[in-house]
Amino acid sequence: MGLVTLPLEIARETTRKSTEQARLWCKQLEEGNILLFPQAPIALETAEDLQFLLGLEQSRSVLHKNLAYQSATDRIVGANLCSANSAAHARLRGILRSYSQQVTEFLTKFLTPYQSHWQVDYTSFRAIEEQGRHLPLRKRNDLLHIDAFPTRPTQGARILRFFQNIHPTRPREWIIGEPFRALAPQFAPTHIALPRPESAWMQRSRNAACRSGMGKAIPALQRSSYDRFMLRFHNFLKENSVYQSQGARTAISFPPGSSWMIYTDTVPHAVLSGQYALEQTFLVAPQAMVAPEHSPLAVLESLVGQRLL
Ligand SMILES: [Fe+2]
Repeated sequence: MGLVTLPLEIARETTRKSTEQARLWCKQLEEGNILLFPQAPIALETAEDLQFLLGLEQSRSVLHKNLAYQSATDRIVGANLCSANSAAHARLRGILRSYSQQVTEFLTKFLTPYQSHWQVDYTSFRAIEEQGRHLPLRKRNDLLHIDAFPTRPTQGARILRFFQNIHPTRPREWIIGEPFRALAPQFAPTHIALPRPESAWMQRSRNAACRSGMGKAIPALQRSSYDRFMLRFHNFLKENSVYQSQGARTAISFPPGSSWMIYTDTVPHAVLSGQYALEQTFLVAPQAMVAPEHSPLAVLESLVGQRLL
């Protein structure tokens, strides 16, 4: 596991690269590597857009960790600062919409095995300085964790995130830990119970909830045993002071102007400092994986000895 550094020329040549090359990049991501572009392949449309983002002062409300844009509804959430200023709100929405489209277009060519096998999830703008943020423990970004969404169970889909440090001068400082396949057996089942395979009745009930409006209103109804484990594991890691102080870790500094991609459900990560980053999340279908044995679902199924989904 490590950092795979890709010069900008690689990104520019993406469309001419072979499928085999694209499969290799997917494999590197799925194994728990981070793909880093020291020079981001995506640029905001104008310098004024960047200045606009750098000038935003986001509310420090604990209700919203970040400003987020949802492409499916063309809507922004967490924009407390803009609620009283409709022009600023519309401009922010336009910038994030354009950014989301650019990243999606780029990755459609760069990670071709995932084409049409993903759901474009939220686009976020992280305006707040990460160092010294006051957040409830389970929402803290500076503690090592794997991602699991409390309100959006993925049911085995993978969480792929594309980040971009848009701070003009400062790096974004992360630490990462051992990937899920090494970490899970250290704690499960001795410290945290493994997920139990669902009965056919439970699966039918969950599928019915997913199809109905009730499932959207009550996310717990959509959560599979896999989702419940991933959420418990996210909380367990953040609450485990021994792991936080003594677990294996590597420091990574993402320079200003860089972009990076990572499966955040596989690689434990924490951001220690940095301000002003853009991020696009994709939920990638399990059947699109080129190295499925590295997925958290496959690792858990091998520990349990049965299929979970
Ligand atoms: Fe995270």
